[in-house]
Amino acid sequence: MSEDERNNLMRRALDARKKAVAPYSKFKVGAALLTDSGEVYTGANVESVSYGLTCCAERVALFGALTDGAKQFRAIAVVAPHKDGATPCGACRQLLAEYAPKAVVYVADSRKPKAVREFTVKELLPEAFRL
Ligand code: THU
Repeated sequence: MSEDERNNLMRRALDARKKAVAPYSKFKVGAALLTDSGEVYTGANVESVSYGLTCCAERVALFGALTDGAKQFRAIAVVAPHKDGATPCGACRQLLAEYAPKAVVYVADSRKPKAVREFTVKELLPEAFRL
């Protein structure tokens, strides 16, 4: 992916982050998922007072994409106010391994979005559970 494409995806994740609903942790996360055909689906974390019901930004983006019929994914950008950027949690890694195994995962600190770290899904979750 070109640097321009990556920067665009980062920008979409930063925009999505503004819509996070994180009244408990106050930790707002944004994600932008790019399909093979060039569409971008965004998401932000949504928290519940029953904390375990919280859904991460990555899953909100992925579920929106999947339920819109998207199937092939090139990349996902994730931004959070965390030193060096927050990598996806274990639950999100499992879902990425199932539905977006070829996606490059870009993470960045939302306060320093130009410093991007890059991972493969396989690196983040080797030996993912499969049936
Ligand atoms: N969170 C995400 O949205 N994505 C991540 O990769 C890590 C964690 C959210 C869940 C919760 O709303 C908040 O960040 C604090 O854990």
